[in-house]
Amino acid sequence: MSFLDLAEKRGSIRAYKPGPIPEESLKQVLEAGRLAPSAANFQPLHFIVVRDEQARARLQEAYTKDWFARAPVIIVACVDSQRAWTRNDGRNYGTVDAAIAVDHMTLCAADIGLGTCWVGAFDPAKVRAALDIPAGIEPLVMTPLGEPAAKALPKKRKDLKDLVHWERW
Ligand SMILES: Cc1cc2nc3c(=O)[nH]c(=O)nc-3n(C[C@H](O)[C@H](O)[C@H](O)COP(=O)(O)O)c2cc1C
Repeated sequence: MSFLDLAEKRGSIRAYKPGPIPEESLKQVLEAGRLAPSAANFQPLHFIVVRDEQARARLQEAYTKDWFARAPVIIVACVDSQRAWTRNDGRNYGTVDAAIAVDHMTLCAADIGLGTCWVGAFDPAKVRAALDIPAGIEPLVMTPLGEPAAKALPKKRKDLKDLVHWERW
């Protein structure tokens, strides 16, 4: 599959089959996250893999959509901002690093036929409490990971002409 075909194939999956996924598939997805670049290669990320049914139920309280915790695995991407690269003007790049890693993982999952969905609209305090995340470590993005039970919606994107500025703004 070409990269553009893979980018087209990945879409937000909001329905999952409940059965477990192969351990090898999970490892591949995590490896894709590990291989992602980070600013100054500081690698300020932690991935929490949640498979336990009770722990998934606790996460469901932080993000209450019913499809979310039906997936057999939830990956919670966390950033340790103190360990992330900071630009001279104070801009911390930890969130950028996390986004790249999650993008790598979601694309890898699509490549091996698994579904994911970026989830940002959760209650971080509830996620922290559910997973014993220490102070200073921020849960930024969660994604379910599992076999899709439905297709993603068709892609709706702006035209390139509305995104791209040639040579200057
Ligand atoms: C940073 C980020 C946060 C998101 N948070 C949520 C979320 O909380 N719940 C949800 O259902 N989808 C969430 N999404 C998925 C987007 O709605 C989705 O990616 C977008 O509509 C494009 O659809 P596609 O992923 O199928 O291409 C999020 C996506 C991103 C990139």
